[in-house]
Amino acid sequence: MARADNGGVGINYLDTGGEGTPFVFIHGFPLDGRMWEPQVNALGGSRRLIVPDLRGFGDSDVPEDRSAYSVDSFADDVKAVLDDAGVDKAIVCGLSMGGYITFAFLRKYRESVAALVLADTRAEPDPPEAKEKRTGQQEQVSKDGPGGLIEALPNALTSDRSRAKNENLVPQLKQLMDNPGAGFIGALEAMKNRPDSSDDLAGVDVPTLIVVGEDDGLTPPDAARTMHEAIGGSQMVVIPEAGHFSNLESSDEFNRALEAFLTDTNL
Ligand code: MLT
Repeated sequence: MARADNGGVGINYLDTGGEGTPFVFIHGFPLDGRMWEPQVNALGGSRRLIVPDLRGFGDSDVPEDRSAYSVDSFADDVKAVLDDAGVDKAIVCGLSMGGYITFAFLRKYRESVAALVLADTRAEPDPPEAKEKRTGQQEQVSKDGPGGLIEALPNALTSDRSRAKNENLVPQLKQLMDNPGAGFIGALEAMKNRPDSSDDLAGVDVPTLIVVGEDDGLTPPDAARTMHEAIGGSQMVVIPEAGHFSNLESSDEFNRALEAFLTDTNL
């Protein structure tokens, strides 16, 4: 593990070393870099993979003040990691909240982006009722800690079909969500305040792969299709029987989609 510094906030990351244009994998909420283990195991032997824990998660520093969290400050964490690793350009792969951050990264650091993978995410901001729900979740976490969300989210976000196939999925997700309350509250603040990225889609001029679980109820195939139609030349893969965490629920299919994209784009 290595550590980058973003203005005094320490950001932990894995750097596998390896060949080709590196990947940087940006995790979703409320997980950390460990969620990419199936991709690290499959691709990490040859290709260079950079896997940060964003601020508030994993082994990175945890600012207490929620104003330290935004999609822009998370994007700066990713840039600090790439700079620390000496990577000029990467294939930026973000899942869900990681995708919201990928859009912020693209706006701020276009020159560092070789290609995009947008997984189980959407370009639109939160509607008012989603913001209200997140405020309620922040209140719950400040009062009782993150346990209630850790208990509820794995069942709510995964596909019934993948839970039936893999009885370890829910316990595994609970472990991956075992992160500090301040990280939960900060990331909820960042997601609630994220801007609309819809107008950025038409301007995306790097190879782009969009991946979505067939049963993803939070960022469903329709949201993926909207991005696919707006991003010229993009590819879209629907992962059968997977829910919101498609890289974990159906990791072989997810990895095959990444491999095919690398072959098609010569990256
Ligand atoms: C995530 O998986 O990153 C979050 O559930 C996304 C969200 O709540 O919008």
